[in-house]
Amino acid sequence: MRIDIISVLPDLMRSPFETSILKRAMEKGLAEVHFHNVRDFATNKHRQIDDAPYGGGAGMVMMVEPLDLCISKLKSERHYDEIIYMTPDGETLNQRIANKLSTVENLIFLCGHYKGIDQRVRDLHITKEISIGDYVLTGGELAACVLADSIIRLLPGVLNDEQSALTDSFQDDLLSYPIYTRPDVYKGLEVPKVLLSGNFQAIEDWQHDEAIRITTERRPDLFEKK
Ligand code: ADE
Repeated sequence: MRIDIISVLPDLMRSPFETSILKRAMEKGLAEVHFHNVRDFATNKHRQIDDAPYGGGAGMVMMVEPLDLCISKLKSERHYDEIIYMTPDGETLNQRIANKLSTVENLIFLCGHYKGIDQRVRDLHITKEISIGDYVLTGGELAACVLADSIIRLLPGVLNDEQSALTDSFQDDLLSYPIYTRPDVYKGLEVPKVLLSGNFQAIEDWQHDEAIRITTERRPDLFEKK
């Protein structure tokens, strides 16, 4: 998979892809992430990329031309399955969206900054708008990293134990059951006996019951969605 990320602050996003699991995914050639600085596509001599909004109001707007040039150049080089604008106005990211995006070849993520982007960029190029939650960040960069992480970890071969993504919270609309490792007693707190029993059916039943209990307590809305 290839992800092209367009931003005014590409440096803000480098370290997540140069560390740990995502780094290994890049090294193994399972994912490629390319950054593009909008300023490199500015057309006037001041390398201007934002301007005041028509109609007035606070904040600056990212200009249509540099973004159009950048996206058009990428589109002339390969087919993109989705061109995604990171914005609080978008569809809220969830596991279903991450699963679906993890099956495609090429993605563009466009990070907004300032007050946002000229509507005509959306009209011309954007095929999907994604929010990472009902709060506003200073720009789309951190949201783009969250989205990329949620997708790349699902690519076959990225996680060591291929099962581990399948048993994540949310994969079956349930939160995770509690997990433990050694020692079996710590400060008087014991690991549930069933987990030490070696009875795999009993362990699986316990894990399922606990996942239902925790989901009922914390996120009953996940059942209502089903
Ligand atoms: N840009 C600013 N806030 C955002 C959010 N919550 N999700 C995605 N992109 C954003």
